[in-house]
Amino acid sequence: MKFTAFVRYIRQPSGQMPPYSSKITSETELADIYAFLVSLPHPADPKTIPLLTPPSASEKKTMKVKAYRRPQPAPQIPISSPRDSHLTRDVYTRP
Ligand code: HEM
Repeated sequence: MKFTAFVRYIRQPSGQMPPYSSKITSETELADIYAFLVSLPHPADPKTIPLLTPPSASEKKTMKVKAYRRPQPAPQIPISSPRDSHLTRDVYTRP
């Protein structure tokens, strides 16, 4: 962003940002803020961040995607099932 565009934006912001008139922030102060911001190191190029890079066509071919299986409801065993007969006994005994 050029300094002129920076000043224009701060005096008349286009979105949610509150405007800063020359009474609040002088041109000299804005120049200092701009110089500071410009002095900051640039962030890494997103292309160098593997997580942000979509896989290439050849990479896609070798990717194995496990098919998603919808969680299945637990099997319903009727209470009268012979498998549960031990539960209906008065005293639990190991089958
Ligand atoms: C001297 C102090 C400030 C400076 C130099 C400044 C500078 C800037 C600049 C240059 C942008 C545009 C970024 C872009 O388009 O790439 C921006 C956007 C923004 N600023 Fe500030 N800002 C200041 C203070 C504030 C304060 C105090 C607030 C909130 C209370 C604020 C809220 C925002 C918001 C929300 C945006 C995003 C644009 C939008 O959608 O409204 N800024 N600011």
